[in-house]
Amino acid sequence: MKNRVLSGIQPSGEFHLGNYLGAVKNWVDQQEEKINYFCIVDLHSLTVPQDPTTLHHQTRSLAAMLLACGINPDKSTLFIQSHVLAHVEACWLLNCVTPLGWLQRMTQFKDKSAKQETIQTGLLVYPVLQAADILLYDADEVPVGEDQKQHIELTRDIAQRFNHLYEQEFWVLPEAKIPAAGARVMGLDDPTNKMSKSYAHISGHAVRLLDDPKDILKAFKRAVTDSGREIAFSDDPEKAGVNNLLGIYCAVTGKSKDETLADFANARGYGDLKVGVGEAVIAAVSPIRERYTYLMQDVAELDRLLARGAEQARAQAQPKVEKMKEIMGLVLPRLGTEDKGHGACQLPQSLFPRPPPLCVTLFGFLWYWFWQDAAVPPTPPPPLPSLIWWRQWRCWPPSPHRPRQRKQPYPPPRSRPALPPPAW
Ligand code: TYM
Repeated sequence: MKNRVLSGIQPSGEFHLGNYLGAVKNWVDQQEEKINYFCIVDLHSLTVPQDPTTLHHQTRSLAAMLLACGINPDKSTLFIQSHVLAHVEACWLLNCVTPLGWLQRMTQFKDKSAKQETIQTGLLVYPVLQAADILLYDADEVPVGEDQKQHIELTRDIAQRFNHLYEQEFWVLPEAKIPAAGARVMGLDDPTNKMSKSYAHISGHAVRLLDDPKDILKAFKRAVTDSGREIAFSDDPEKAGVNNLLGIYCAVTGKSKDETLADFANARGYGDLKVGVGEAVIAAVSPIRERYTYLMQDVAELDRLLARGAEQARAQAQPKVEKMKEIMGLVLPRLGTEDKGHGACQLPQSLFPRPPPLCVTLFGFLWYWFWQDAAVPPTPPPPLPSLIWWRQWRCWPPSPHRPRQRKQPYPPPRSRPALPPPAW
């Protein structure tokens, strides 16, 4: 049986070489052999402040970029997270089984919260939403860069805790799939820090896939290295720059470490290495940039593909979250009474009578108006009009049981009839 895969990427910031080599390239490479779900996690982006217009544009732009990188919508389900409500529901339900301490320990939470003036609650529960993304699709594998390893381990912990609490083998325990090369692409300006979307706008930090080839080469030529000359893989922090360049070369060309070193055996120094890596990256990303430009010309087609993806994702995620609710003891709407997924009304319709027809409303209004005119000073209206009232006061239609009376004045005269004289 084919393994199931889910992975996600945030639409905030600009798509860079680290995202491509650490995650998306592997999504594309393994599409044929697996059942794939790839998710643009727009709800995750909201955990730090975003400009709404930019986020809106970047979400579609990222969809085009993923397709340009080679995600095939006939082989993989590509969708936007917020289009599948089950993610939010499952996140809440999982929040209710996740200890706070687990979330406070997350390295990414500590890093990101240190940079914020106000920490949003969303930033803390971010990994629970990520767990919901993964678990809803029964994913066996989660292809991600190294920075996401801790979140996948937490996902396993949450799943195990749920299974244990409710004594069920309900969730599949997923595994992080981290590539051998490109799992942690470092910033070109600072090889001790991960290449990051948050700093992608800083010149020389990241290589964005939409950058001009000239700018890409320039960024590589300016990449920070050490003062030596030896081109070798190494764990020495001093050599982190060269190590990063060699790692990028391996990942982008698919060559082994030995093949990579052989390619640079005749290099005259780091200058040749930088140009060699830069050119390899340009060769890999240029066709992607062209396909991206083409795809962005037809936004309607992009939206259509995303809508189809969301429908396929919902077909998997919605029943899973319903089952989850059932396990947790929630009452589900009874079958056949659903109001297209927005809850069901099971009360009899007779409790909600329709409004009276217009002629009845008009009649009521005229009746009240006439009455106010007839009664001076104004008096409260008599009980609701009825045949009895008509027959008493208007004497029409004539009653067979009572002789026809003269029309009574209303209100009745105040003067009382004189009392009979005393009997004595
Ligand atoms: P995000 O959007 O930060 O990154 C998307 C993917 O790119 C990888 N990545 C890198 N890989 C190598 N070197 C780098 N410098 C580098 N920077 C980023 C990330 O590891 C990631 O695989 N929380 C996730 C998104 C997410 C998700 C999920 C992932 C939400 N739900 C479910 C997997 C499964 C994130 O912020 O990724």
